[in-house]
Amino acid sequence: MERKWWQDTVVYQIYPKSFMDTNGDGIGDLRGIIGRLDYIKSLGVNVIWLSPINRSPMRDNGYDISDYYQVDPSFGTNKDLEELIREANQRGLKVLLDLVVNHVSVEHKWFQEMLKNPDSPYGDYFIIRETEDGKEPNNFRSYFGGSVWERIGDSNRFYFHAFAKEQPDLNWENPKLRQEIYDMMTYWQEKGIAGFRVDAIGNIKKSETILSNCRMPADAEDGLCDIHAYVINQPGIGEFLGEMRDQVFKRFDSMTVAEIVVPEKDLEAYIGDNGYFSMVFDFSYADIDTNGITRPCDFAKWNLEDLKRCIFTSQENYQKYGWAAPYLENHDQPRSLDKYLEDGEINYYSTTMLGTLYFFLRGTPYLYQGQELGMSNYPFADISEFKDIDALNKYEKAKEMGDSEEKILDFLRRRSRDNARTPMQWSKAPNAGFSKGTPWLAVNPNYSQVNVESEETEEQSVLHFYRDMIRLRRTSEYRDTLVYGRFEGIRTENTEDFVYRRTGEEREVIVAINYSKEPRSWCVEREGYEVLLNNYDRLEEQMQPYQAVVLGKKV
Ligand code: NOJ
Ligand code: CA
Repeated sequence: MERKWWQDTVVYQIYPKSFMDTNGDGIGDLRGIIGRLDYIKSLGVNVIWLSPINRSPMRDNGYDISDYYQVDPSFGTNKDLEELIREANQRGLKVLLDLVVNHVSVEHKWFQEMLKNPDSPYGDYFIIRETEDGKEPNNFRSYFGGSVWERIGDSNRFYFHAFAKEQPDLNWENPKLRQEIYDMMTYWQEKGIAGFRVDAIGNIKKSETILSNCRMPADAEDGLCDIHAYVINQPGIGEFLGEMRDQVFKRFDSMTVAEIVVPEKDLEAYIGDNGYFSMVFDFSYADIDTNGITRPCDFAKWNLEDLKRCIFTSQENYQKYGWAAPYLENHDQPRSLDKYLEDGEINYYSTTMLGTLYFFLRGTPYLYQGQELGMSNYPFADISEFKDIDALNKYEKAKEMGDSEEKILDFLRRRSRDNARTPMQWSKAPNAGFSKGTPWLAVNPNYSQVNVESEETEEQSVLHFYRDMIRLRRTSEYRDTLVYGRFEGIRTENTEDFVYRRTGEEREVIVAINYSKEPRSWCVEREGYEVLLNNYDRLEEQMQPYQAVVLGKKV
């Protein structure tokens, strides 16, 4: 594969609402981000991805856009955004905006116009079906629970929504709509952004089944049926994605990362040399604890072998066709420490072990705000503490299906997206230094230990370790190997050994991990290698609990 500028990147994801509040309204804002650009730069990353900052009624915290051309007033102004882009670029930080174009908000002018007159041209911007008997066309379930169909007024017409009912899906079959979107993307590219994180894009092509009058066999007590197989990656989607690539991404040599699960047979089309995107997010290991589950508050069982298989297989597949986008966290996931570690096992060693595990995989690593500090899940005690639309919907649905309060809360405590959305922990000051007002979502009480200011001064901290990892990858003599080198998963006899090799033209790197709380014998031969990174002071006879070591040598 030809080398691309966006391969030599490490991305820092910002969730603006929870990053830094400067005017005391309890909501993070763009001026807050501008004020922290030096911190972000100090991490060594070179790209920032901003979760949506457009005008929105915030039913899904900005993933429900009502005006693509305006910044939401709670975040600031368009001028602030332009300043942010300029200030970031001056520091060598490129900016990705979140592109949410599978759906809009019900408050978007297109939707409002459609409501006024579904027979106007705006009727064709949405997916509308009319039924004779006045019932929903079919029994498919939206991602956030409940039917995918919502009645328009008191008519027999319904609009389609894959997510919440406040997020009507756009009709991508309409060329006029598509052109409006490409124009909007061009507008932002011309403002100096480097590209987009592309939201829910696998959903833009709908199968005929999901839009037809059909009754599917229910897969849960709500009488509804899962939509994934009927809306994700449907035949014909490539026409839209190729058009988007040719009209926008190619013109600007954009960096793009799409939120879509791509089966191996389609990877070439998505991320090959002339792929639709630079890279796509893989969900297999992020959702290892919920994959395949249709009931709202149930978990899937998994073990370390499954995790290893998911990571290795994903790396091997992506490497055949293009570039990967490894991540442990984002705004849709709980904190990774609570997901991947047993209860009571979160400590400096296990935290840095998890970081090492994914950071040297082949692809662009994504780092989510606070992950570099070792932030962990919030101790939610009651449903009233949750704000996320998905958590609240799941609560309702699980209740209807007869789940106990205790079971639901246990699920949400471990799985709710609010875990990642609690305010960034800057210091020991009140509200972790995030806001002088009342934060929109409670601050994690562990902020007195886990915060930027303390970790800057401590001799050993997760923050220092992340900086070291980024430095090794981006500026050391192993950079070429760590960025472009081949990936090879090494299968040892023990489940708890995680070992992989990266081989470049001149150097080779081995990542060796003891994923267990017990000391264990070494899982690799160390002769001839230098130690590039180690989360312990030295190497002992045995690997220590959660020890993570990166070894390197010339080849
Ligand atoms: C994926 C986003 O990451 C998530 O936060 C959002 O709720 C859905 N797409 C709908 O836009
Ligand atoms: Ca604010």
